[in-house]
Amino acid sequence: MADSPRRYHITTFGCQMNKADSERMAGILEGMGFQWAETPEEASLVLYNTCTIRDNAEQKVYSYLGRQAKRKHEQPDLTLVVAGCVAQQEGELLLRRVPELDLVMGPQHANRLQDLLEQVFAGNQVVATDPVHIFEDITKPRRDSQVTAWVNVIYGCNERCTYCVVPNVRGVEQSRTPEAIRAEMEELGRQGFKEVTLLGQNIDAYGRDLPGVTAAGRHQHTLTDLLYYVHDVPGIERIRFATSHPRYFTERLIRACAELPKVCEHFHIPFQSGDNEVLKAMARGYTRERYLRIIDQIRSYMPDAAISADAIVGFPGETESQFENTLQLVEQVGFDQLNTAAYSPRPGTPAALWDNQLSETVKADRLQRLNHLVATKAAERSQRYLGRVEAVLVEDQNPKDPLQVMGRTGGNRLTFFTGDITELKGQIVPVQITTVRAFSLTGDRVDQPTQLSVAGVAC
Ligand code: SAH
Ligand code: SF4
Ligand code: F3S
Repeated sequence: MADSPRRYHITTFGCQMNKADSERMAGILEGMGFQWAETPEEASLVLYNTCTIRDNAEQKVYSYLGRQAKRKHEQPDLTLVVAGCVAQQEGELLLRRVPELDLVMGPQHANRLQDLLEQVFAGNQVVATDPVHIFEDITKPRRDSQVTAWVNVIYGCNERCTYCVVPNVRGVEQSRTPEAIRAEMEELGRQGFKEVTLLGQNIDAYGRDLPGVTAAGRHQHTLTDLLYYVHDVPGIERIRFATSHPRYFTERLIRACAELPKVCEHFHIPFQSGDNEVLKAMARGYTRERYLRIIDQIRSYMPDAAISADAIVGFPGETESQFENTLQLVEQVGFDQLNTAAYSPRPGTPAALWDNQLSETVKADRLQRLNHLVATKAAERSQRYLGRVEAVLVEDQNPKDPLQVMGRTGGNRLTFFTGDITELKGQIVPVQITTVRAFSLTGDRVDQPTQLSVAGVAC
C-alpha cells in the first residue's frame, strides 16, 4: 500500500472557469504524488468540481455524491472532496447533508488544495469557503489539451444580475497582473501550446482593480491593453477571450481585435434578453439598441466575425411579446452559436423571490422555440463557409472516425477532415470546406498555404 501511488479522479461540472480550476487542482495533486485514475471508482481521492448556475446542475452533484458517500463506508480511506460553486454556496450545510465528505472548498481556494488536504490527512473535516485573496497561480496545471489552454485573467464578478449566483460564489473581481498572465502564456508557448483563451466572468472588467490610471483618466490595464501586451508571445498563434459584457464592451477593444492578427475574430457576448424591460429587471445595464450597436460595430470592422452569446428564456414576468423580442433579436443578429437556458430561480438571488415566476411549461415551450430558431440561423451562418479555405488548428482525432482529425476555425467552428493526428496535432492547416452543418463543418486539406483566404493569418 505504502509504495503504490494514490490515485485521484476529478469530475468537472459547469463553465470554463471550473475547467481551468480543475486543471490547476489536478496539477497540485500530481505534484503531491497522486496519479490520474480514469474513473472515480478506481480512485482513492475523488473530487467533484461543482456548478450551481441552475438547479439541475446542482442536483446532478448530489446524485454523484450519494454514490461515493456509500462507497466510503466500504472503503474508509477514500478521500471525498467537493470544490467549486456548490461547495461555496452550501458550505457547512453540505457536510450536514453528506457527512462522509472530507473537504468542502470554494473556488477561491482552488490553488490552496495541497494545504487543505494536509489538514484532511491530519484527521480533520475541512470547510474552506471564506473569501480570500487568490494567490498567484504558481501551480503547474495538468491541462486536458496539448494545443489549447485557458488562462485566467480576472476572477470573480462585481455585477449584480438579479438571476445570477456567480457573484455570491466567485466573490469580488480580482485581476491577475499583466506580467503574471504573460509569463503563463510564455510557458505555454514553450510547451508547444498554440491557442490561449483568456478567461473572466466579465472580462471587460479586467484591470479595474489594479493600480494605475493613464493621463486621460482611464485605467492603465484594460483588456485591450492586455491584448497588445501579450500579443507577441512566441509560439502562441491564436488568442481568444470570454466572456464579454455588453455594458463595458468598447470600440477600442473591437479595433484591437481587428488590428491584432492573432486575436480570433470570434466574440462571445451574452445578451440574455432582447427586451428592454426584461434587461432592466435583470439589471444588465444596457439596452437592446446598445447591444445591436456593438454587433454593428464589430461587423463594420470585421464583416466575417463569428458571434456567439447566451440567453435566458422565462425570466420572471417575461410576457409572450417580450419573449418575441428575444426571438426577433436572434433573427436579426444571426448568431453562430447561442447557449440558451430556461430561467432557474437560484438561492440568494433577488429574482428568485419575486412572485411573478412563470410555469415550467411556458419556459420549456419558449426554450424549444428559441432553440429551433438558433439552429436555423446557425445553419444559415454555416453556409458562408462552403467552398472557402479556412485555417483550422488541429486539436485531436475525431473520436467517431480515426481517419479524421478535428479542430477549429478562427471563428470557432468545429471542423473535421481526413488526416493523421500524429502528423497534424497542433498545426494550423488550410482546409477547404465541402460540407456544412449548423454547428460543424467538414472539408479537405489543401496543400498550398497560399490558397488561404487570409494568407499567413492564423485566425
Ligand atoms: N458572466 C457571464 C455569464 C456567466 S453564467 C455573463 O455575464 O454573461 C453563464 C450563463 O448562464 C449566463 O450567461 C446565463 O445565460 C445563464 N444563467 C445564469 N444564471 C441563470 C439562471 N438563474 N437561470 C438560467 N440561466 C442562467
Ligand atoms: Fe452573473 Fe451577471 Fe456576473 Fe455574468 S455579469 S457572472 S450573469 S452577475
Ligand atoms: Fe457554474 Fe460556477 Fe461557472 S456556478 S457556470 S461553475 S462560475
